[in-house]
Amino acid sequence: MFCRVLILIILFSGAGLVRAQDSHKYIGAKKCKTCHKKAKIGEQFKVWQEGPHAGAFKTLSSEKALKVASERGITDPSKAGECLKCHSTYAKHKDQLDKKTKLTLEEGVSCESCHGPGSDYKKKKIMKDQKLAISKGLIIPDEKTCRKCHNENSPTMKEFDFEKAKDKIKHPRPNKK
Ligand code: HEC
Ligand code: HEC
Ligand code: HEC
Ligand code: HEC
Repeated sequence: MFCRVLILIILFSGAGLVRAQDSHKYIGAKKCKTCHKKAKIGEQFKVWQEGPHAGAFKTLSSEKALKVASERGITDPSKAGECLKCHSTYAKHKDQLDKKTKLTLEEGVSCESCHGPGSDYKKKKIMKDQKLAISKGLIIPDEKTCRKCHNENSPTMKEFDFEKAKDKIKHPRPNKK
């Protein structure tokens, strides 16, 4: 009984939800890579590395970035929180890192910006059980996930068509049931 009350309290209190989310820590793409580099599972690491998000931090040193930044009185966008918050998972979540994290500033928009911090779902046994993984912090990303960054606060905002964008970054499992 006590347990059920406790669960209800956690479920219905916003604060409880926030705390549960905060307790999951960021581990970095290199950790996901150990399993998600294999062809059998879909080489998600490689697809991500060759896609737009892995280079998002590097982009902040491009000529275009310097121009966009200078219009806002920022001299070095690669050090400015205003830009980093959407261009680097590390910069945004550096107060929520796992003790053994591999997450770096340079890895840009990493797996966990879309899939949630992985410290508690990274075990194979948990990953294989979608419901369990979700209860441990895994996110199956939807349009809302993307809109955290693909929105009007982006100084270079282009039109964002979720279905098209999702197709551009897709990294499916080859033999998904
Ligand atoms: C120890 C190995 C291992 C690690 C580490 C790992 N995964 Fe997985 N993951 C798997 C396996 C195996 C599956 C496939 C499960 C299946 O098909 O039944 C999977 C499935 C997934 C899925 C699909 C889940 C679903 O049910 O739709 C996502 C998303 C995912 N992993 C993301 C990640 C991310 C992000 C990381 C790093 C934070 C990570 N994984 C780390 C082994 C791992
Ligand atoms: C944490 C912030 C963040 C999230 C979340 C995010 N993106 Fe991005 N995305 C970026 C940034 C930053 C770039 C630009 C990278 C660059 O040019 O170096 C980008 C670029 C892209 C591009 C290439 C540029 C374009 O518009 O064609 C696609 C496609 C894309 N994202 C799709 C998605 C999809 C689909 C999702 C959700 C499933 C998503 N993104 C979630 C930050 C994010
Ligand atoms: C609200 C999230 C967000 C913020 C804040 C943000 N960006 Fe971005 N940035 C994105 C997304 C998403 C993309 C890719 C799609 C697009 O351009 O609309 C992107 C793309 C870019 C690009 C590549 C555009 C191109 O056409 O090649 C540059 C350069 C850039 N951002 C610079 C910056 C700079 C400099 C800052 C800080 C002044 C900044 N961004 C702040 C989300 C953001
Ligand atoms: C920009 C957001 C974004 C990033 C970054 C990202 N993913 Fe995904 N991922 C998605 C989306 C969207 C899906 C499709 C969700 C669905 O099934 O509707 C997905 C699906 C998956 C799946 C399941 C594929 C399937 O067939 O069900 C795995 C596994 C996965 N991602 C692993 C990773 C790993 C590992 C990384 C980093 C190396 C990563 N993702 C980075 C957005 C992202």
